[in-house]
Amino acid sequence: MAKYDVIVLCASPLISGNSAKIAAEIVKNCETAGKKVHTIFLNKTENLRGCQSCYGCKKAGHCVVKDGTAPILDEIREAEAIVLATPTYFGEAAAQLRLVTDRFFSFLSGDFKCNLAPGKKAAVVVSCGSGYDGAVALGDKLLKQCGMCGFTPVGKIVVADKEMKQQTDTPEVQAEAKKLAAQL
Ligand SMILES: Cc1cc2nc3c(=O)[nH]c(=O)nc-3n(C[C@H](O)[C@H](O)[C@H](O)COP(=O)(O)O)c2cc1C
Repeated sequence: MAKYDVIVLCASPLISGNSAKIAAEIVKNCETAGKKVHTIFLNKTENLRGCQSCYGCKKAGHCVVKDGTAPILDEIREAEAIVLATPTYFGEAAAQLRLVTDRFFSFLSGDFKCNLAPGKKAAVVVSCGSGYDGAVALGDKLLKQCGMCGFTPVGKIVVADKEMKQQTDTPEVQAEAKKLAAQL
């Protein structure tokens, strides 16, 4: 298994969509800083089964479900940081992301203490239509979940795409991406 510094999970089916573009900007800055980054487009990843509620992780100390998510969880376990990038769908993260983030349950042992090495960081990118406040709340919720699972939340970027125009190439968003990447 290759070892990466940063794992980027892109949930949107649009690989050149808003959230993916911002994630790519973060990746660019991380790579410029010498970090090895793996971007995973979840919509293209096969056999993501979601959490099976088997609680096998509570005995094993890792997820025991062997599917397309298993290598992603392994890579996250080895990495220094994660970036979760998702559009807002009905106020929530895209299902493609939930299939993986529910499996972060395996980062908590039977006593619900985190079994990851300490010091891992998490950043979030959320795109939305006109529901900016909802997207901000979603970003905070995702960061909180990461915090519960042992990551230190470092920040989020939220972009609204009210007129279905891509507004991700602005100097403001690029500056935000650069700042966030520097914290990973
Ligand atoms: C199924 C679906 C549900 C959506 N629900 C919301 C929503 O609840 N709030 C919102 O502001 N935008 C919503 N949108 C719009 C997307 O979040 C928005 O277009 C976003 O910028 C897409 O990001 P992407 O280009 O990364 O896929 C929805 C779009 C789809 C396809």
